[in-house]
Amino acid sequence: MIAWMRKLRALVVLGSFAILLAGCGKENLSALIPKGYGAQKSMDLIVLTTIVMSFVLLIVVTLLVIVVVRFRKRKGEEDRIPKQVEGSTLLEFIWTSIPIILVLIMAVPTVMAEFNLADDSDSSEHLNINVTANQYWWHFEYEGEEIETSQDLYIPVGEKVYLNLIAKDVIHSFWVPSLAGKLDANPENVNTFFIEAYEEGIYYGKCTELCGPSHSLMDFKVIVVSKEDFEQWKDDMRSFDPEQLELDSVALEGKELYEQNSCMNCHAIGDNSTSIGPNLTNFGNRERFAGILPTTKEALVDWIMDPDQIKEDNKMKTGAYPNFSEQEAEKIAEYLLQLKATSITPDKYRD
Ligand code: CUA
Repeated sequence: MIAWMRKLRALVVLGSFAILLAGCGKENLSALIPKGYGAQKSMDLIVLTTIVMSFVLLIVVTLLVIVVVRFRKRKGEEDRIPKQVEGSTLLEFIWTSIPIILVLIMAVPTVMAEFNLADDSDSSEHLNINVTANQYWWHFEYEGEEIETSQDLYIPVGEKVYLNLIAKDVIHSFWVPSLAGKLDANPENVNTFFIEAYEEGIYYGKCTELCGPSHSLMDFKVIVVSKEDFEQWKDDMRSFDPEQLELDSVALEGKELYEQNSCMNCHAIGDNSTSIGPNLTNFGNRERFAGILPTTKEALVDWIMDPDQIKEDNKMKTGAYPNFSEQEAEKIAEYLLQLKATSITPDKYRD
């Protein structure tokens, strides 16, 4: 192949990769658009190291070009031997000390940030949320608030919130790129860190530890609300009594099906909080369910009918509970969608 064609091909491949990767920068799912304390700290370090590295690259490339041009082999000088500088103490000193200084410029702020982000000495003065990672969903328990929920994590804007992570089965990892760095959820020990969001909104969270076939579907949301809305949300969640809900006739039939078919053995609704599967108390308020599905009737019916097909290896196995006809699944879906505990919904915070 002609040389220029080969170059063109390489350029096209690289260009496609660049375009492809540019698509990864989804807003509210990007560490490069920080909206929280931890993420901002990481971003500052990224900027600092990029500046230092660009400086090194610039100097090296400049020197290389100068050397190649100035000291290239010229006609009639084939036998010339350049001046030998071997053993020059000055040069040795310069090219040892400059890298040390550069490494220090990057290392000191990095270690300082590490210590700062790992400091949990003030955790008792702030809101603590116990986060339990399960294959493949997240459970959130607001310490001292008598609130338990799953998949959608509500926190107030501008406040430090401590998360105590633990896993029920295998190792998972909690990451909300826009808000903070990531931390593992281990089965044996509690890992604690904090998040603090600067702006209201809905932020995407991901499990970032390969935890099984549906690892990539183990998404969650952090909904950062105003302080007033957070108080309201807590009040609503605490006082919500699903038995008092005014359900329409279809939803009432769904409720009966739900109760008769022991769905509640795994999914708590109301304050019977020990749950094998996600707590569904405020299901109708949820931004997503099953990690990735929109909270709509169609998606919910598909899920109830055949969860395996959507999320492989999940605990709500097809066959682990009675088979429902489509009409029955629709009634159950209707009931779950009417479980609205609060007026503070993700809709309000969607851009
Ligand atoms: Cu949990 Cu990956």
